[in-house]
Amino acid sequence: MSESLIDEDIRKARTLPSRYYTEQDEFDRLKAVFTGWQFAAHVSEFEAHNIRPLDHLEAINGESLLLVSGSETFCLSNVCTHRGMRLALEPCTKKTLQCRYHGRTFSLDGTLRHMPEFEQAIGFPSGADNLRRFPLKRWMGLHFTAVEGEPKAPWEMLEQRLGFLDVASYTYDPGRNRDHGVEANWLLYVDNYLEGFHIPYVHPELNQALDYAGYTTETFDGGVLQIGKAVEGDVAFDLPAGHPDEGQDIAAYYLWLFPNMMFNFYPWGLSVNVVIPVSPTQCRVLYRGYVKDANLAGQGAGSVLDTVEDQDQWVIEEVQRGMTSRAYDRGRYSPTQEQGVHHFHRMLSRLHL
Ligand code: FES
Ligand SMILES: [Fe+2]
Repeated sequence: MSESLIDEDIRKARTLPSRYYTEQDEFDRLKAVFTGWQFAAHVSEFEAHNIRPLDHLEAINGESLLLVSGSETFCLSNVCTHRGMRLALEPCTKKTLQCRYHGRTFSLDGTLRHMPEFEQAIGFPSGADNLRRFPLKRWMGLHFTAVEGEPKAPWEMLEQRLGFLDVASYTYDPGRNRDHGVEANWLLYVDNYLEGFHIPYVHPELNQALDYAGYTTETFDGGVLQIGKAVEGDVAFDLPAGHPDEGQDIAAYYLWLFPNMMFNFYPWGLSVNVVIPVSPTQCRVLYRGYVKDANLAGQGAGSVLDTVEDQDQWVIEEVQRGMTSRAYDRGRYSPTQEQGVHHFHRMLSRLHL
């Protein structure tokens, strides 16, 4: 892509050409965006097991990784340095990592500890026999990892806004896990997430809980924050004194981090959605839920998540069909309602993929 593809001025800009949503070449090229920070797990997920293979990350960027929590937490390669067996096949609790193929054993920091039948091997072990460590970032109780470099991300700025939530104290609720297959390109799922413009048309139930006129979108380097205001009397956050949004009834903070991660903060807790690209016309969406106050889960904007998801999938799948039309290539953005979508497309256009 080239930066000129999406005009910087939203009032003049045209949307992403439809080939980006349909063609294998474009799909393959865009895979490069998934090597930066990706959501791995919330701290509470270590309560049941100290070793967690990150299967969703393998589906996203092809890298088999492990989160290991001992005296410190590490993100390690999940591939044995002997002949390439995958080490942990499911979450487990262990003091060492032992390969099930020929018994090579690693400490929880990835250092090779023992290997049978290698006494006569020369120059063994060497650093190359340890498991590779990948970058790990802990932010508000959420772990992120990257397979290439440590890209800049707006962690501090977001923490000023959301830090009051004490997300690290939330509890993982596997009952909220979802794995949705969607017959649409992953970009369409993100585009749809980045605007509240469609709420009155597509989500009648959610529209009842949100004050549409008060819906705002803020764009920044690396993401978009949308803020849903509660209708009067509905459940809203208790904002501390001095908070930038003090005095407002906020029903939800919808945070998107480039390219595929959505963090939906509600008074009951946090719903994380991760979009996994599958093919030019298919993606998967994983839901993970972390609960602060289960009593609030039946109220307000955060109470109708499955209904909203079904409605979004319906509209996205119809748009995917529209993308193959000869009569459609590009549209225009609403300057007042589609700043988030425009911002995402500008980010993509600047990547020179
Ligand atoms: S592949 Fe792991 S010990 Fe052989
Ligand atoms: Fe929606």
